[in-house]
Amino acid sequence: MVTAYDEPSARFAAEAGVDLLLVGDSLANVVLGQEDTLHVTVEAMCHHVRAVAAARSNLHVVADMPWMSYHAGVGESVKNAAALIRAGADSVKLEGGRVRQEVVRAILDAEIPVMGHLGLTPQSVMTFGGFKVQAKTREAAERLLLDAKVLEEEGVFAIVVEGVPGVVGTRLTEALEIPTIGIGAGPDTDGQVLVFHDLLGLGNRAPAKFVRQYAHLGPVITEAIAHYATDVREGNFPGPDESYPDPDELAP
Ligand code: KIV
Repeated sequence: MVTAYDEPSARFAAEAGVDLLLVGDSLANVVLGQEDTLHVTVEAMCHHVRAVAAARSNLHVVADMPWMSYHAGVGESVKNAAALIRAGADSVKLEGGRVRQEVVRAILDAEIPVMGHLGLTPQSVMTFGGFKVQAKTREAAERLLLDAKVLEEEGVFAIVVEGVPGVVGTRLTEALEIPTIGIGAGPDTDGQVLVFHDLLGLGNRAPAKFVRQYAHLGPVITEAIAHYATDVREGNFPGPDESYPDPDELAP
């Protein structure tokens, strides 16, 4: 799985042959330049889900339910999930385990497929006191496993496991029937997810430990734009090939 936020990112990922697209609320970090994911609204998510759906990739599109879109009552949560589906998503993802059990059940009852998300759930940054690896003790790992089991029993179709020791990713994957999708959860989860901008080297900061950068496109883009700016300043762009020919009647 890879994240996508607009038509080009969805098209590139689909052409590359990934299995799933995630319109993540990491939109906040990598597209909107924010420090956390807490300021993304359902409207913003819908806007980007529409752009991803415009790629018509035939890939399953998962949309993140942003913070506070499923925390203030079951009815509102179902409506917000429906808004993401109407924008073009095929399922929604939400963070949390037993604490979100009722909401997960209600969204599933509304016939909307749900993906879970456990571990270092970024929307809990204030509770965690920062972006810290989770489930580092036996007790915390047991709680995580129980959360995963409850989500599975409710009927989520997969669970993202983020920012936990590899051994916890392995244990969760062995314990569940449904697929786990890891990010910073070791090599043994059923699938992996990375953020588009991270894997392509488009970010503005050092990548997290769990990221592998498969390209460094940031400098390539900067160089191309700098080349363009130089060409304009030196009168080398546009040239004859990029200009429309003079009409006969205007010829000198
Ligand atoms: O928002 C996001 O990109 C995510 C992934 C990191 C799993 O939730």
